[in-house]
Amino acid sequence: MKIVELGCGNLDNISSLKGDIIAVDKKIVGKPRKNMKVVEGDFFDITFKERFDRINAHYSLCFNKKGVIESKFPYITSRLKKGGVLSIKDFQTDESIVLKRTNLDDSWFFDLLKKYVNPNFKIKRSKVFEESHNHTHLIFELIITKT
Ligand SMILES: C[S@@+](CC[C@H](N)C(=O)[O-])C[C@H]1O[C@@H](n2cnc3c(N)ncnc32)[C@H](O)[C@@H]1O
Repeated sequence: MKIVELGCGNLDNISSLKGDIIAVDKKIVGKPRKNMKVVEGDFFDITFKERFDRINAHYSLCFNKKGVIESKFPYITSRLKKGGVLSIKDFQTDESIVLKRTNLDDSWFFDLLKKYVNPNFKIKRSKVFEESHNHTHLIFELIITKT
């Protein structure tokens, strides 16, 4: 199982799934686990040699400009194997944080995923309490199987 974690941050919330993990972030803090390779840099600038069973992008895409996501995210999804899973977590439109970032809870982003990953997926909306900021975020989650 090959997994890539886009914007892994401090490696705390990284996939607990078994497999070979590539963790990418502009700045990596923390110690990698066994079977984990860390890559420091912009995940949109990487040419991935391998194809993945799972791509995780949790609260990281929103830090990038819409135009960059539109032009470069399709390449990353092309590295997902057929039947592989794309897992996205990000903030809902009415979450104040998106005013400072890029709002992905929108048709332009969902259309991109429909075109390049799978036309069928469900959007799950929920609230997540972030202990470090003592704040509850409104988030959406997508688990999309590549067709
Ligand atoms: C809010 S943190 C989320 C960390 C982790 N995924 C989690 O769920 O706790 C967002 C991370 O994404 C990284 N990030 C955002 N855009 C990136 C990019 N284009 N290339 C590499 N890292 C990026 C940031 O550096 C930051 O560490």
